[in-house]
Amino acid sequence: MTATVTPLTVPMINDVIALMDQGAPFITARTASDYWAYATLFSSTCPVAHVDGELAGAVMAFRSQDEPDQIYVQDVMVHPNHRRKGITSALLGTVRAQAAAWGCARLWLTSEPDNRAADAAWKALGWSNVPGDQAVDGVQVVSDFKGPGKDRAVYELLLA
Ligand SMILES: CC(C)(COP(=O)(O)OP(=O)(O)OC[C@H]1O[C@@H](n2cnc3c(N)ncnc32)[C@H](O)[C@@H]1OP(=O)(O)O)[C@@H](O)C(=O)NCCC(=O)NCCS
Repeated sequence: MTATVTPLTVPMINDVIALMDQGAPFITARTASDYWAYATLFSSTCPVAHVDGELAGAVMAFRSQDEPDQIYVQDVMVHPNHRRKGITSALLGTVRAQAAAWGCARLWLTSEPDNRAADAAWKALGWSNVPGDQAVDGVQVVSDFKGPGKDRAVYELLLA
Protein backbone atom coordinates (compact mmCIF):
# COMPACT_ATOMS: atom_id res chain seq x y z
CA MET A 1 0.00 0.00 0.00
CA THR A 2 1.36 3.38 -0.99
CA ALA A 3 -0.50 6.49 0.03
CA THR A 4 -0.19 9.55 -2.15
CA VAL A 5 -0.39 12.78 -0.15
CA THR A 6 -1.48 15.98 -1.90
CA PRO A 7 -3.14 19.26 -0.90
CA LEU A 8 -6.93 19.36 -0.68
CA THR A 9 -8.60 20.68 -3.84
CA VAL A 10 -12.17 21.75 -4.56
CA PRO A 11 -13.02 18.71 -6.77
CA MET A 12 -12.24 16.44 -3.79
CA ILE A 13 -14.86 18.00 -1.52
CA ASN A 14 -17.64 15.42 -1.97
CA ASP A 15 -15.17 12.60 -1.29
CA VAL A 16 -13.92 14.39 1.83
CA ILE A 17 -17.47 14.76 3.14
CA ALA A 18 -18.12 11.04 2.48
CA LEU A 19 -14.91 10.19 4.34
CA MET A 20 -15.71 12.42 7.31
CA ASP A 21 -19.22 10.94 7.46
CA GLN A 22 -17.58 7.68 8.57
CA GLY A 23 -15.85 9.32 11.52
CA ALA A 24 -18.56 9.01 14.19
CA PRO A 25 -18.53 9.47 17.10
CA PHE A 26 -15.46 11.69 17.09
CA ILE A 27 -15.61 13.34 13.64
CA THR A 28 -18.54 15.05 11.96
CA ALA A 29 -18.38 16.24 8.37
CA ARG A 30 -18.37 20.00 7.92
CA THR A 31 -20.18 21.68 5.07
CA ALA A 32 -19.10 21.82 1.44
CA SER A 33 -18.69 25.56 1.90
CA ASP A 34 -16.25 24.98 4.77
CA TYR A 35 -14.17 22.56 2.69
CA TRP A 36 -14.24 24.99 -0.23
CA ALA A 37 -12.62 27.58 2.05
CA TYR A 38 -10.06 25.08 3.34
CA ALA A 39 -9.17 24.01 -0.23
CA THR A 40 -8.99 27.57 -1.48
CA LEU A 41 -7.36 29.37 1.45
CA PHE A 42 -5.56 26.74 3.54
CA SER A 43 -4.60 23.89 1.18
CA SER A 44 -0.95 23.79 2.22
CA THR A 45 -1.99 22.60 5.69
CA CYS A 46 -4.95 20.48 4.53
CA PRO A 47 -3.34 17.37 3.04
CA VAL A 48 -5.31 14.35 1.84
CA ALA A 49 -4.11 10.80 1.20
CA HIS A 50 -5.22 8.57 -1.66
CA VAL A 51 -4.63 4.82 -1.90
CA ASP A 52 -5.30 3.19 -5.27
CA GLY A 53 -7.20 6.29 -6.32
CA GLU A 54 -9.53 6.24 -3.30
CA LEU A 55 -9.55 8.90 -0.62
CA ALA A 56 -8.13 7.20 2.49
CA GLY A 57 -7.45 10.06 4.87
CA ALA A 58 -7.50 13.80 5.40
CA VAL A 59 -6.19 16.42 7.79
CA MET A 60 -7.61 19.92 8.12
CA ALA A 61 -5.18 22.30 9.81
CA PHE A 62 -4.71 26.05 9.85
CA ARG A 63 -2.00 28.56 10.68
CA SER A 64 -3.26 30.93 13.33
CA GLN A 65 -3.64 34.56 12.35
CA ASP A 66 -3.64 35.57 16.03
CA GLU A 67 -0.50 33.54 16.81
CA PRO A 68 1.25 32.95 13.46
CA ASP A 69 3.88 30.70 14.98
CA GLN A 70 1.18 28.15 15.73
CA ILE A 71 -0.77 25.68 13.60
CA TYR A 72 -4.02 24.22 14.86
CA VAL A 73 -5.04 20.79 13.59
CA GLN A 74 -8.82 20.76 13.43
CA ASP A 75 -9.68 17.34 11.98
CA VAL A 76 -7.77 14.10 11.38
CA MET A 77 -9.66 11.30 9.71
CA VAL A 78 -8.56 7.99 8.18
CA HIS A 79 -10.98 5.60 6.49
CA PRO A 80 -11.69 2.57 8.70
CA ASN A 81 -10.23 0.24 6.06
CA HIS A 82 -6.95 2.15 6.04
CA ARG A 83 -6.12 2.63 9.71
CA ARG A 84 -2.84 1.53 11.30
CA LYS A 85 -1.04 1.91 7.98
CA GLY A 86 0.79 5.12 8.74
CA ILE A 87 -1.58 7.48 6.94
CA THR A 88 -1.99 9.85 9.87
CA SER A 89 1.76 9.79 10.34
CA ALA A 90 2.21 10.80 6.69
CA LEU A 91 -0.48 13.49 6.76
CA LEU A 92 0.70 15.12 9.99
CA GLY A 93 4.26 14.84 8.70
CA THR A 94 3.25 17.02 5.77
CA VAL A 95 1.73 19.61 8.09
CA ARG A 96 4.81 19.50 10.29
CA ALA A 97 7.06 20.10 7.26
CA GLN A 98 4.97 23.09 6.24
CA ALA A 99 5.10 24.42 9.80
CA ALA A 100 8.89 24.10 9.80
CA ALA A 101 9.12 25.84 6.42
CA TRP A 102 7.16 28.77 7.87
CA GLY A 103 9.28 28.80 11.02
CA CYS A 104 6.34 27.92 13.24
CA ALA A 105 7.06 26.83 16.80
CA ARG A 106 4.04 24.73 17.71
CA LEU A 107 1.38 22.44 16.29
CA TRP A 108 -1.55 21.64 18.51
CA LEU A 109 -4.90 19.89 18.52
CA THR A 110 -7.62 18.72 20.83
CA SER A 111 -9.46 15.43 21.02
CA GLU A 112 -12.29 14.01 23.04
CA PRO A 113 -11.07 12.66 26.40
CA ASP A 114 -12.28 9.13 25.59
CA ASN A 115 -10.78 8.90 22.09
CA ARG A 116 -8.24 6.22 22.90
CA ALA A 117 -7.11 5.65 19.30
CA ALA A 118 -6.44 9.34 18.89
CA ASP A 119 -4.55 9.54 22.20
CA ALA A 120 -2.41 6.56 21.17
CA ALA A 121 -1.76 8.03 17.73
CA TRP A 122 -0.73 11.49 18.92
CA LYS A 123 1.61 10.06 21.55
CA ALA A 124 3.10 7.53 19.11
CA LEU A 125 3.83 10.40 16.73
CA GLY A 126 5.68 12.35 19.40
CA TRP A 127 2.99 14.77 20.51
CA SER A 128 2.63 15.64 24.21
CA ASN A 129 -0.59 15.62 26.20
CA VAL A 130 -0.72 19.12 27.73
CA PRO A 131 -1.39 19.11 31.50
CA GLY A 132 -5.03 19.74 32.35
CA ASP A 133 -7.10 20.11 35.48
CA GLN A 134 -8.36 16.51 35.51
CA ALA A 135 -7.26 13.06 34.34
CA VAL A 136 -9.57 10.68 32.47
CA ASP A 137 -8.16 7.16 32.35
CA GLY A 138 -4.66 8.60 32.43
CA VAL A 139 -5.33 11.31 29.84
CA GLN A 140 -4.86 14.93 30.91
CA VAL A 141 -8.05 16.90 30.20
CA VAL A 142 -8.87 20.62 30.33
CA SER A 143 -12.41 21.19 31.60
CA ASP A 144 -14.65 23.41 29.45
CA PHE A 145 -11.81 23.99 26.98
CA LYS A 146 -14.17 24.58 24.05
CA GLY A 147 -17.00 26.04 26.12
CA PRO A 148 -19.24 24.85 28.93
CA GLY A 149 -19.24 21.04 29.09
CA LYS A 150 -16.79 20.73 26.22
CA ASP A 151 -13.86 19.15 28.01
CA ARG A 152 -10.92 18.37 25.74
CA ALA A 153 -7.57 16.63 25.86
CA VAL A 154 -5.00 19.01 24.39
CA TYR A 155 -1.88 17.80 22.57
CA GLU A 156 1.06 19.72 21.16
CA LEU A 157 4.15 19.16 19.08
CA LEU A 158 6.87 21.71 19.70
CA LEU A 159 9.28 22.39 16.85
CA ALA A 160 12.84 23.28 17.70
C1 LIG B 1 -6.93 8.30 15.25
C2 LIG B 1 -6.69 8.02 13.75
C3 LIG B 1 -6.73 9.34 13.02
C4 LIG B 1 -5.31 7.35 13.58
O1 LIG B 1 -5.06 7.22 12.19
P1 LIG B 1 -4.11 6.07 11.57
O2 LIG B 1 -3.83 6.44 10.16
O3 LIG B 1 -4.69 4.75 11.83
O4 LIG B 1 -2.76 6.25 12.41
P2 LIG B 1 -1.31 5.70 12.01
O5 LIG B 1 -1.46 4.44 11.19
O6 LIG B 1 -0.51 6.79 11.41
O7 LIG B 1 -0.75 5.30 13.44
C5 LIG B 1 0.49 5.74 13.95
C6 LIG B 1 0.70 5.09 15.30
O8 LIG B 1 -0.29 5.58 16.23
C7 LIG B 1 -0.66 4.51 17.12
N1 LIG B 1 -2.07 4.18 16.92
C8 LIG B 1 -2.89 4.63 15.94
N2 LIG B 1 -4.14 4.13 16.09
C9 LIG B 1 -4.10 3.35 17.19
C10 LIG B 1 -5.07 2.55 17.86
N3 LIG B 1 -6.33 2.46 17.41
N4 LIG B 1 -4.70 1.89 18.98
C11 LIG B 1 -3.43 1.98 19.44
N5 LIG B 1 -2.44 2.71 18.83
C12 LIG B 1 -2.79 3.39 17.72
C13 LIG B 1 0.22 3.33 16.78
O9 LIG B 1 1.41 3.41 17.55
C14 LIG B 1 0.51 3.59 15.32
O10 LIG B 1 1.68 2.94 14.85
P3 LIG B 1 1.61 1.34 14.51
O11 LIG B 1 0.37 1.10 13.70
O12 LIG B 1 2.88 1.11 13.72
O13 LIG B 1 1.57 0.63 15.83
C15 LIG B 1 -7.76 7.05 13.20
O14 LIG B 1 -7.95 5.99 14.10
C16 LIG B 1 -9.10 7.69 12.90
O15 LIG B 1 -9.34 8.23 11.80
N6 LIG B 1 -10.03 7.66 13.88
C17 LIG B 1 -11.39 8.21 13.68
C18 LIG B 1 -11.38 9.73 13.60
C19 LIG B 1 -10.77 10.35 14.83
O16 LIG B 1 -11.06 9.97 15.96
N7 LIG B 1 -9.92 11.36 14.59
C20 LIG B 1 -9.30 12.12 15.63
C21 LIG B 1 -10.25 13.14 16.12
S1 LIG B 1 -9.43 14.40 17.06
